[in-house]
Amino acid sequence: MYGSGITPRADSSSPFAGITVDKSVEFSYEELARATDDFNLVHKIGGGGFGVVYYAELRGEKAAIKKMDMQATNEFLAELKVLTNVHHLNLVRLIGYCTEVSLFLVYEYIENGNLGEHLHGLGRDPLPWATRVQIALDSARGLEYIHEHTVPVYIHRDIKSANILIDKNFRAKVADFGLAKLTEVGTSLQTRLVGTFGYMPPEYAQYGEVSPKVDVYAFGVVLYELISAKDAIVKTNGSDITESRGLVALFEDVLDKPNPKEELKDLLDPRLDQDCPMDSILAMAWLAKCCTHENPQQRPTMRQIVVTLMTLSSATENWDMGAFYENQSLVGLMSGR
Ligand SMILES: Nc1ncnc2c1ncn2[C@@H]1O[C@H](COP(=O)(O)OP(=O)(O)OP(=O)(O)O)[C@@H](O)[C@H]1O
Ligand SMILES: [Mg+2]
Repeated sequence: MYGSGITPRADSSSPFAGITVDKSVEFSYEELARATDDFNLVHKIGGGGFGVVYYAELRGEKAAIKKMDMQATNEFLAELKVLTNVHHLNLVRLIGYCTEVSLFLVYEYIENGNLGEHLHGLGRDPLPWATRVQIALDSARGLEYIHEHTVPVYIHRDIKSANILIDKNFRAKVADFGLAKLTEVGTSLQTRLVGTFGYMPPEYAQYGEVSPKVDVYAFGVVLYELISAKDAIVKTNGSDITESRGLVALFEDVLDKPNPKEELKDLLDPRLDQDCPMDSILAMAWLAKCCTHENPQQRPTMRQIVVTLMTLSSATENWDMGAFYENQSLVGLMSGR
């Protein structure tokens, strides 16, 4: 029997009184501590804005345990229960959680690191172009799912290459969805920004306007990362000052030139194969430009992006970009409608 008798506090004054959280997804602190040698740092596999991530084997399954820097409220516990029921091939599965001592989230372990690590090449082989297109399509599908098909629907708000995990077959899964809600509870300011610099669209960074188009923008930045393997914010060393520029601005400079296909070569990831299809790369760059349009309403939906990437993916496999440009829905999207 797991969970050693811990039940979420559902006091009668709470609107969630009477909701019992499924025991099968609840872990005891003791169980997590045992699996990580008391959260020994040798088990640490990452750390980000919300807390530290540990590797563990739990109940025979490989898991990633995320120790959050915050406590769960009853409201968020109800939310977690919902999140453990969201299943999609392109979303990292939340196996369960623990609310003793601190808040812990237990995820399925994804074998092969995050997309950022692959792009920056730390001890990794370069990703071939076709794999990058597949990774884009997989992540788009994961996002489309939370935008349109879950109840309630979610906006991720922290899409970036560190939150896209790669499995052993080089398929991608979106991590950390649903956590934006957690950062809202307990803060009096409902407008608190969650996100990462370089990935936030202007309407969000300036006015705190939240819509699914916040994720679309960040996804566009990830597409630019797939092409260039550069960080979302690029630091350039001037004569005596360091200047920072967003990847969005760097690409726009190039895409606005008369011959973008040629100019784009300067921004390509040097680890990409010399003979990789420039038409396909250019098409992805145009898509990224649409996603990062200044006006959120002009950005495509994740559903449109999935359709575009599916076409791009089959065209890339067959090296036939003619078919890609013949696709009418795509022509509309590329011209900003
Ligand atoms: N389920 C998982 N399987 C394998 N590795 C994971 C898993 N979850 C997280 N990681 C690793 O731990 C790293 C840190 O995760 P974490 O989500 O805490 O930080 P982040 O993604 O850098 O930032 P943020 O807190 O904004 O999401 C990830 O980038 C990834 O490399
Ligand atoms: Mg993360």
